[in-house]
Amino acid sequence: MKLENKVAIVTGGGKGIGAEICLSLAKEGAKIVIAEMDIESGKNSQKRIIENGGDAIVVETNVADEFSVNNMAEEAVKKFRKIDILINNAGIRHINNILDHTKKQWDEMLSVNLTGPYLCCKAVIPYMIKNGKGKIVNFGSIASFMGRPDRVAYVAAKTGVLGLTRALAVDLTGKNINVNTICPGLISTPFNQKFAEDPVHGEAWGKETIVGRWGVPSDISGAAVFLSSDDSDFINGSEIKIDGGWLAAKTRKGELEN
Ligand SMILES: NC(=O)c1ccc[n+]([C@@H]2O[C@H](COP(=O)([O-])OP(=O)(O)OC[C@H]3O[C@@H](n4cnc5c(N)ncnc54)[C@H](O)[C@@H]3O)[C@@H](O)[C@H]2O)c1
Repeated sequence: MKLENKVAIVTGGGKGIGAEICLSLAKEGAKIVIAEMDIESGKNSQKRIIENGGDAIVVETNVADEFSVNNMAEEAVKKFRKIDILINNAGIRHINNILDHTKKQWDEMLSVNLTGPYLCCKAVIPYMIKNGKGKIVNFGSIASFMGRPDRVAYVAAKTGVLGLTRALAVDLTGKNINVNTICPGLISTPFNQKFAEDPVHGEAWGKETIVGRWGVPSDISGAAVFLSSDDSDFINGSEIKIDGGWLAAKTRKGELEN
C-alpha cells in the first residue's frame, strides 16, 4: 500500500470526486478526515470507507471560514495525531452571465474556490513542517486554462488556484512539501448532473473530448493517490489536466466521430 500510516484531509469529501478520492486514499492505507459542509454526505462517505476496511472521521467544515478550517486541522490531529496530505477538493459554481452575476455570487465563489484552499493550506502546513514532509493537492479545472461562458468568478478562482499552487510551492522551499493542482474536465458528479443528463449538451460535451465521453470520479482519484504518494516527490508547483483531451484539441462538430 502506498499511503500506509498517512493521514489525509479531503475537503468536500462527502460527494462526487472528493468521496471517490477518500475511498481511493483509504484503500492505499491512509486514515481519512472528511471535511464537509454537508454532514449527511460526509457520513455516507465515512460509511463506505469503513465498509472497505478503512478508518475515517467526519469534521463539519466550511472551507471559506478560517475558524472552521482551523478547527478541521485541530480535530484531525486530535484523532490521528498528524496531517500528511491535504486534498483541497471542495468547490462550488454559479452559472450566470456577467450582466446578471452578483457581487454576492462573486464573493462566494472566490471564498470557497480560492480563499478556501489558501485557508486550509495555512492551517495544515505547520503540522506538515513538524512531520518533515507533506503533500497538498489543489483543485483547478479546465476553466483554469480558458474562458467558459457565464462563469466569470469560477474561471477567475480556478485560474487563481494555479497561481496559489505555484506561489505556495516556492514559499515552502526546503520544507519537503509538494503542492500541485489537479485540473478535471467534465466529470459526472452532483456538481454538474443536470449537464451530464442533458439530452443535447450532455452527449455533445462528451464528444468535445478526444476520449469521447464524460469522465467519472474514478478517472480523477488515481492521480490524487499518485500526488499524495512518494511516487510524486519530484513534482512540485505543477498541474495535471485530466480532461479526456478536451484542452489538447479544438475540434469542429463531427470531426472526432470517425
Ligand atoms: N465535476 C466536474 O466536472 C469538475 C470539473 C472541473 C473541476 N471540478 C472541481 O472538482 C472539485 C470537486 O467537484 P465535484 O464535481 O466533485 O463537486 P460536488 O458538488 O459533486 O462535490 C463538492 C463537495 O464539496 C462540498 N462543499 C461545497 N462547499 C463547501 C465548503 N464551503 N466547505 C466544505 N465543503 C464544501 C459539497 O458539500 C460537496 O460534497 C471542485 O473543486 C470542482 O470545482 C469539477
